[in-house]
Amino acid sequence: MKSIDVLVKEHEEISKLLDRLEVECIKILEGSSIDYPFFEASIEFIRDYADKVHHKKEEDILFKYMVEELGGAAQKLIQHGMLVEHQLGRHYITELEKHLNEYESNGDVHDRLQIISYTMAYVNILRMHIEKENSVVYPFGENNLACGTKELIEEETKERLSEDEKISERKEELLKIIFK
Ligand SMILES: [Fe+2]
Ligand SMILES: [Fe+2]
Repeated sequence: MKSIDVLVKEHEEISKLLDRLEVECIKILEGSSIDYPFFEASIEFIRDYADKVHHKKEEDILFKYMVEELGGAAQKLIQHGMLVEHQLGRHYITELEKHLNEYESNGDVHDRLQIISYTMAYVNILRMHIEKENSVVYPFGENNLACGTKELIEEETKERLSEDEKISERKEELLKIIFK
C-alpha cells in the first residue's frame, strides 16, 4: 500500500531527528551549554510534523479503519498500545519544554537533568514505537483489511498529503536549524 510506504518514509525522517536529539543529549552530558534554538526547532518539528502530520495521519486514517474492521486484537494493539504511546510522547515534550524554560530562568541543575531525561524518554519510546509499527502494526493492517477499505485509506491519505504540503516550507527551515 502506498499509504503505508508514506508512513514508513515519515518514520525515517523522524528517526533522523531522534538520532540528532541523542547526540545533543551526549553533548550536554559532556558539558556543552543548552542550545535553545536547537530545542525550540526540535519541539516545533515534533509537534507540527511528527505529531500533527504523522501521528494524526495514523490516528485519523489507517488506525481508525483497523479498529473498526479488525476486531479485538487490533483494538488492543492500537487503543492500548499505539495511541497510549502517542500520548506519552506528547507528555514528554510538554515536560521537556517546561524544564527548558525553567533552566533558562534559574539555571538549576535539576532542570538540566530533566532536559536530558525527557529528551531521551521521547527518543526511546519513539524508537520502540516506530519499530513496532513497521514490523507488526502496519503489516497487520495491510494483510487483513478489505480491499475496499484499503482503497479508502489510499484516497484519504492522498488528500491529507496535499494538506501536509502547506507546512513543507517551514519544515525545511526547521531542519536547517536542527541539522546545522
Ligand atoms: Fe504511531
Ligand atoms: Fe508512526
